[in-house]
Amino acid sequence: MSNQVLSSINKGIAELHPYQPGRPIDEVVAEYNPAKVVKLASNENPLGPSPKAKEALTSLGESLHLYPDGDAKELKQRIAKLENVSTNQVVIGNGSNEILELAARAFLNKDTSALMSKHAFAVYKIISQACGSRIIEVPMIDWKHDLKSFKDHINDDTRIVFVANPNNPTGTFNSHKDFTNMMLNIPSSTLVVLDLAYFEYVEAEDYIKINELLDEFDNILITKTFSKIQGLASLRIGYGIASMELCNILNKIRQPFNANFLAQIAVIKAIDDHEHIKKSRELNSSERCRLQESLESLGMECIESQGNFIAFKGSFNADEMFLSLMKEGVIVRPIGLYDMPDFLRVTIGKPEENDYFINHLSKLL
Ligand SMILES: Cc1ncc(COP(=O)(O)O)c(C=O)c1O
Repeated sequence: MSNQVLSSINKGIAELHPYQPGRPIDEVVAEYNPAKVVKLASNENPLGPSPKAKEALTSLGESLHLYPDGDAKELKQRIAKLENVSTNQVVIGNGSNEILELAARAFLNKDTSALMSKHAFAVYKIISQACGSRIIEVPMIDWKHDLKSFKDHINDDTRIVFVANPNNPTGTFNSHKDFTNMMLNIPSSTLVVLDLAYFEYVEAEDYIKINELLDEFDNILITKTFSKIQGLASLRIGYGIASMELCNILNKIRQPFNANFLAQIAVIKAIDDHEHIKKSRELNSSERCRLQESLESLGMECIESQGNFIAFKGSFNADEMFLSLMKEGVIVRPIGLYDMPDFLRVTIGKPEENDYFINHLSKLL
């Protein structure tokens, strides 16, 4: 029997490829039963969650019957202080993905277009297409956003430009100067969503200066997350920083209790866990370098990354190599859906995890 209601879904949704998360460890164990599993597939923090956040969660069971603070006031205050903005310039999301989606819902519909790079983070396309919006994809140059040419691709109906910096899955970054020039050359009526999920891992000197951008431009929404360097991906907290007026709009369409109680408490603690952040950044920095060298010594071509992952390719079929590695207990990510069918993306793990991956990769070559 054909389901008539499906003919009424928004245009664009039928053609969508759903987001493909990394394979969960339990699933890989159940299917292949390898001696050991190393998950390097979802850009998670190999050092685990902030110990301060973990400690805060132990005694909270008694309050689970209460709704969380729907406005997440304390959390917003802490983030505002961290980012040197006012509290009403912060919107809390159920992961930064929710902030991206709120922006899409506020600005996009079937009469609009959304602009992004080819090989940009997959969620931009999914949420834009789900709103019925047309997608404009700009080719990258050397796996980097070609920000200079964005102005030439923008249309009268373009309502959002999405930029991940660094971008996932390429790991490449764009300088503050190049980003500012792009902002100066596009209409101020177009919202630019600047996704800084991997902000803390960047070591390049000419990187984004958030407060300068917020002072200079009203048409910018910056997103950040606690899923990466703070290691709290499962709690789902991200945030947006923008003008007070734009935050008010996004708050109007946000679900009232989108940030749960446990997550709010843990994230507040994680903000102050400077030691965990420092350790995580240092580990990523040294291991990113070491892993890239090891990959290159095996003949792989790596894309220079500023994130906590590396996209690489070799003389193998990437989907087959992904499966072979998984059978050995190493979970990486194939990125064919990003139009990079020859590449795999590996998250930077702890030294022993990276060694395990490299050993198995070299055996399989
Ligand atoms: C570029 C980028 N933005 C946003 C996200 C979403 O992060 P979250 O919703 O966990 O905050 C990710 C997750 O991998 C990402 O890679």
